[in-house]
Amino acid sequence: MSARGEFSSRLGFILAASGSAVGLGNIWGFPTQAASNGGGAFLLVYLFLTFLLAYPVFVAETVIGRYAKANVVDSLKKVAADRGVEPVATVVGITGMTTAVFILGFYSVVAGWMVANLFGELAEIVGQDALSAWFTTSSIPRDVGFSVGFLVITLLIIRGGVSKGIERWSTRLMPVLLTILIGLVVYVLTLDGASDGLRAYLTPDLDKALKPELMVSAMGQSFFSLSIGVGSMLIYGSYVSKSDNMPRLGLAVTLIDVGIAILAGLLILPAIYVALASGIEVFDASGKLVEGPGMIFSVLPALFDTIGPAGIWVGAAFFALMSIAALTSSISMLEVPVPYLMEVHGRSRGQAAFMIALVALAISVTIVLTPGWVFNAVVTGATEYSQPLLSLCLCLFVGWIWHRHKLLSELMQGYPEIETSLFWRWWPTYVRFICPLGILVVFLNGLR
Ligand code: PHE
Repeated sequence: MSARGEFSSRLGFILAASGSAVGLGNIWGFPTQAASNGGGAFLLVYLFLTFLLAYPVFVAETVIGRYAKANVVDSLKKVAADRGVEPVATVVGITGMTTAVFILGFYSVVAGWMVANLFGELAEIVGQDALSAWFTTSSIPRDVGFSVGFLVITLLIIRGGVSKGIERWSTRLMPVLLTILIGLVVYVLTLDGASDGLRAYLTPDLDKALKPELMVSAMGQSFFSLSIGVGSMLIYGSYVSKSDNMPRLGLAVTLIDVGIAILAGLLILPAIYVALASGIEVFDASGKLVEGPGMIFSVLPALFDTIGPAGIWVGAAFFALMSIAALTSSISMLEVPVPYLMEVHGRSRGQAAFMIALVALAISVTIVLTPGWVFNAVVTGATEYSQPLLSLCLCLFVGWIWHRHKLLSELMQGYPEIETSLFWRWWPTYVRFICPLGILVVFLNGLR
């Protein structure tokens, strides 16, 4: 094993990378977007964009990391050296790391709400109703306290290192996540009204799905969900052994990510309609579905309250699911700049992780203390601008800057027969032309 740490097995990488990919984006973002954007049609557009644009970029990003086995900046520089454009690599690398820390900043606020609500359900189980009300009502002490708590747990895992921190916890938590999710889907599908939700989810409304705004949100959703652009996957790729087949690993992670998003849709959409059937307001005054926090923190808890004594347990399971999903993602955000501070600035892992966590904390606290538009600006800036543009840059690095024979020989490690594969027939052209153009078109369309 190299000194900078490596995943101990292929499965370790698959679970860590899908832990990163599967997060609030899958369980909250995807189902609620699908619910308000034409159900099955959104699902189709999403699947199409994920396999056509996001998966090729995912492989591009992980393969850069595996090639250089270094931090984000040095990895990009190694590729950039092929055409003498190292300064560009530094700018892209630093922007990526900064974006990852901003994402961690807002993500821990939202994750903190999830953990607080989990505590709220647990307090109710032991009959502490006043305490439960405190946990489930937003306040500055609660929101700051839980974001800090969440960041501390993220920090503790990252301090453990690659195999004893990231891999160990992803391998423990991902099976729990899947079990809770399947359990909840099965339970919710037995409730009255669930089949209307299934219908709304699975019936495509093509008029809605083909709108440009929808393509933009589907693309944003799919890039965010696969964690690409900001360096998380580059760094996880840098911990993959040279004997692993990168396109195949990428496909496994993409399938798990998409699979969990689809499963989460089978939970959230039926739950919304069950709530509707039991008289809970799920549409606002203008007839639109309640979105965002309102859905997760008022509609769903109201639903849990109506299903009798089991409701508290269902609620606890739901918020545990959200908290776990968030944690395996947040560790991949905090990890992004850590090897950079270690390898370039000579910090220890513990120091590096602590410094980054402090910056993320400052962002979280600012978000909690300022009006909602700051939160929205951070989310939009990081996920709708920075992330797609960084992904575009990664495509340019792999498609245009990296010498083709070096790229091929990197991919051949772990996949010796790649030259005759279907993957090699289409992927280079994809990363060179189709992905950058696709990202650009969808991005510019969104700006209009
Ligand atoms: N993929 C994560 C989610 O779906 C979010 C994420 C974005 C994680 C960027 C790491 C980097 O919630």
